[in-house]
Amino acid sequence: KKNVLTGIKPTGDIHLGNYIGAIKPAIALSKNEHYQSAYFVADYHALTNVPGREEYKDHSCKVAATWLALGLDPTKTIFYRQSDVPEIFELTWILSCLASKGLMNRAHAYKALADSNLDRGRDRDFGVNMGLFTYPVLMAADILLLKTDIVPVGKDQIQHIEIARDLADTFNKTYGDTFSLPQYQVEENTAVLLGLDGRKMSKSYKNTIPLFEESKKRQKLINKIKTDSSPPGACKDPYTSIIFSLYQEFASANEVLIMRERYENGISWGEAKQELGKVMNDVLEEPRETYLELINAPKKLNEILLEGAEKARAISVPFLKEIREKIGLLS
Ligand code: TYM
Repeated sequence: KKNVLTGIKPTGDIHLGNYIGAIKPAIALSKNEHYQSAYFVADYHALTNVPGREEYKDHSCKVAATWLALGLDPTKTIFYRQSDVPEIFELTWILSCLASKGLMNRAHAYKALADSNLDRGRDRDFGVNMGLFTYPVLMAADILLLKTDIVPVGKDQIQHIEIARDLADTFNKTYGDTFSLPQYQVEENTAVLLGLDGRKMSKSYKNTIPLFEESKKRQKLINKIKTDSSPPGACKDPYTSIIFSLYQEFASANEVLIMRERYENGISWGEAKQELGKVMNDVLEEPRETYLELINAPKKLNEILLEGAEKARAISVPFLKEIREKIGLLS
């Protein structure tokens, strides 16, 4: 079996980009018998933003509830919270000592902040904490410790997985073959889902459509998606439209065929948006109810996650022991 792993950072409401870029493909893989999946709440990654205590708890709870509401089966997938697997942090230190600072300087989360500081005439490292700077090393530890082969993610994470491969390779060359080299899996069509303003959908741009938004509010957001100014009645190119790409993610193959024709026959944008709202509602209504129940049952979520952490540790504890022996620590 191939090992699949992915994580979501609890920094706010899960949005359509998270769902389409990572969660949806990951859930499909979790149902495929050729794969063993491990999905987690990347809570310590979110600490780089230094969230308030209540907000931090709440967001972690929401990420966990989202996966379960969408049908993830925690008896088949190793489903856990990163912070419950302490071996990850020990491996982070080991990998830090193999990671060159230059590599981290080029990592995009840090570089984006550093570049914007320079653009504004500030010191390059204004507001940069060491957590943000070494973020890719923690992510490499997540991936390598569970012997991951495949990481389903959106395009913005590709560089991080390349860094994980790099560090695995450096370790293997230094201490002998230990880690498998992980590969990313990115869905071509939705590698970068665009947000309401046409930029990448991202919490930091405030242009997201939350996955479990109430249906009327969701429709309002859908109505805000930027479209070209082609008049009602004009033929529309489905493949350059965010509305159509979202429609494809929620509708059946047959519905998509029919909708493509309607685009060619000049559906109005207003109508196309209504149709999108409808299919999204059909798919998300039930999961949304489950989600609302789960976020009100933090104890239950906690139990599920702790059980998952036990399963993750059944892999990480012996593997870390092997790693410690390889680097020459007495044990
Ligand atoms: P995060 O929490 O920012 O995003 C979670 C997942 O959603 C994808 N994504 C998108 N995909 C397509 N279009 C978009 N607009 C869009 N926005 C977000 C992301 O690519 C990601 O797959 N560093 C990671 C969390 C992490 C992780 C890991 C992932 C920690 N350790 C190990 C994989 C393996 C992050 O911040 O994702």
